[in-house]
Amino acid sequence: MAGEYHGIFVERARRQAPSNWLAIRGDALYLASAVLPAGFASALHVYFPDPWPKSRHHKRRLFDPQTVDLVLRLLRRGGRFSFATDFLDYGERVVEILAGYPGLCFTRRDRPWDEGPRTNYEAKYEVEGRPILRLEGILEVDGREAPLHPLGAKAVLAATWVDED
Ligand SMILES: C[S@@+](CC[C@H](N)C(=O)[O-])C[C@H]1O[C@@H](n2cnc3c(N)ncnc32)[C@H](O)[C@@H]1O
Repeated sequence: MAGEYHGIFVERARRQAPSNWLAIRGDALYLASAVLPAGFASALHVYFPDPWPKSRHHKRRLFDPQTVDLVLRLLRRGGRFSFATDFLDYGERVVEILAGYPGLCFTRRDRPWDEGPRTNYEAKYEVEGRPILRLEGILEVDGREAPLHPLGAKAVLAATWVDED
């Protein structure tokens, strides 16, 4: 979570006082790779993430072949995944990437969430009548055991040797 949204979340959480919560402010990819443990989350909500439209910036996307593993491995077995974007080209790319992710079962949602908009951007975009692509799914393996996404794995070079002594 970044910037002002961290403050809004903290203020709301203090007001509503749920029994436990933790808000972490920082770069999502750094947190996913270095701070948050694999397989810890029962749900992952990603709403209107920055689409980084320039191709040289795609690797900053939360869902790119080289970052998708970092994000989805946070889920435990049976963990739920929800996603929404108004940037439809990016949404279609996310659909393509997720379709190749072993162990992830997801569908497009063709209507708003039952309880109404989940975030400020979603509320604003619904009022404006902007099309929104929504996805929901479940990870059927534990993130700690999930194999690499085949597209991301292609970017990994490995060398091995056999010590014959
Ligand atoms: C379009 S806003 C959506 C905010 C909120 N999710 C909503 O739906 O109302 C995108 C947010 O993602 C944050 N963001 C972009 N890249 C990020 C990153 N790498 N790590 C954490 N937050 C990031 C931006 O600072 C911005 O607050």
